[in-house]
Amino acid sequence: MKIAVSGASGKTGYRIAEEALKSNYQVSLITRNNSIIPESLSNCNQHKISIFNRQSLDEALTGIDTLIIATGARPSIDLTGPAKIDAYGVALQVESCKRVGVKKIILVSSLCIGKLFHPLNFFGLILLCKKIGEEKVMNSGIDWTIIRPGGLNEKEENLTKQNIFYTQRDKQTEGSIPRRLVAKSCIEALNTKFASKNIIEITSNEENKKSTMEEAIQNFILV
Ligand SMILES: NC(=O)c1ccc[n+]([C@@H]2O[C@H](COP(=O)([O-])OP(=O)(O)OC[C@H]3O[C@@H](n4cnc5c(N)ncnc54)[C@H](OP(=O)(O)O)[C@@H]3O)[C@@H](O)[C@H]2O)c1
Repeated sequence: MKIAVSGASGKTGYRIAEEALKSNYQVSLITRNNSIIPESLSNCNQHKISIFNRQSLDEALTGIDTLIIATGARPSIDLTGPAKIDAYGVALQVESCKRVGVKKIILVSSLCIGKLFHPLNFFGLILLCKKIGEEKVMNSGIDWTIIRPGGLNEKEENLTKQNIFYTQRDKQTEGSIPRRLVAKSCIEALNTKFASKNIIEITSNEENKKSTMEEAIQNFILV
């Protein structure tokens, strides 16, 4: 299976690409011209393009089976970032997937999507912009999974002790998770039947009971 990761220079995006490589997928990276990609990904196919250029995006996605979207507006004084990247930028990627026949989209989104009264919205109403992006994915007609993580961190130590708490949409409002576990979850979703057309919220801590994504989704579908 050929996987493209957009936002592959980001702190979650590069880990997704690394995890995809570990699982022996063929990986293409979609980044901006000046994006910095870690050495670990130097053997991947690289498309340094603007996601706002439809033709370049179509070329980058041609022949790809799954697109994992890890783009996101970087914190900045430009408050239009979320509208440009998390809403419009995701919409453009979805449209391109439809044009070139990508079969699955996985979107890295966030807890609290759609909430208006939330401090994160001081940055360009980001939670509302991300909701527009999510809806584009859900209405694409392509198979999809949306992963909504809690606050992201860089911890790489003791990851095996961190167990993921999975819920369905709009159940969790706080908590955090290492980016590495978000990356692993994106790859696990590829082989999780019940992840198809599902929004999955994830946070982690040591107290949670260990379970696979498949077991967790089966449980919350049945309750
Ligand atoms: N931070 C949190 O606690 C948190 C919590 C929940 C969800 N999230 C979401 O999770 C996702 C990953 O977050 P992260 O902090 O790991 O990401 P990040 O390190 O900020 O990376 C963002 C990625 O998006 C790319 N990007 C930004 N603007 C772009 C543009 N105009 N055109 C093309 N690409 C652009 C960046 O490219 P460059 O390298 O070129 O800048 C980078 O690859 C984001 O959607 C974020 O909103 C974050």
